[in-house]
Amino acid sequence: MSVHINAKKGEIAETILLPGDPLRAKWIAETYLDNAVCYNKVRGMLGYTGTYKGRKMSVQGTGMGIPSISIYAHELITEFGVKNLIRVGSAGAIKQNIKMRDVIFAMSASSSSSLNRNRFNGGDFAPTASFDLFDKAIKTARDQKISFKAGNVLSSDFFYTDDPLDHEKWAAYNVLCVEMEAAGLYSIAAKHNVNALAILTISDSLITGEQTTAQERESTFSNMIKIALELG
Ligand code: ADE
Repeated sequence: MSVHINAKKGEIAETILLPGDPLRAKWIAETYLDNAVCYNKVRGMLGYTGTYKGRKMSVQGTGMGIPSISIYAHELITEFGVKNLIRVGSAGAIKQNIKMRDVIFAMSASSSSSLNRNRFNGGDFAPTASFDLFDKAIKTARDQKISFKAGNVLSSDFFYTDDPLDHEKWAAYNVLCVEMEAAGLYSIAAKHNVNALAILTISDSLITGEQTTAQERESTFSNMIKIALELG
């Protein structure tokens, strides 16, 4: 076991889906995986391994924010040999053309976090998705006739920000939406030379103030999950 994951070597698949919410990990495992077994309950951060279309696949909650997802990504890669890490999460729209329930592939992740400036002594690292996963995700979405958008996203350290118009500057530079984890995931994956992709579903809009209900989130999340499951 690692510090935060109570699994034995070999119990976690090379490809893993990473929702922020551990109960969503449970829902994904119970809804989509065959023979899913729970391998982790430490801190309630549930993790499961099963099969999807006969291929071994895991799903692990990560918690919210860059520090939390960075801990799980680090341990999954270094202790359990995970090679393909696919975040499946929600995001808030910050550009006019991004609508509720849109599926977004994060090609790159800008950030208000000081994480990479600290890591690179003030330099600006550009956290980037794996081209292989990105390419496969696009082909899968097209095959399944699921529409999507792709581009730069903002991984913010703030859900509740002091400046409610902060997102406008990012949007002016064509950043599509705000979430809180992708830049951390992409940076850890890059460090260890493995693949990462964040697939996001728009759950709210910072422009219109719209929000999806919990029930809507469940049904609209399924498009994103169906794409992610094909990436193993
Ligand atoms: N995830 C979903 N909506 C968000 C928002 N408005 N800000 C940050 N992360 C989010």
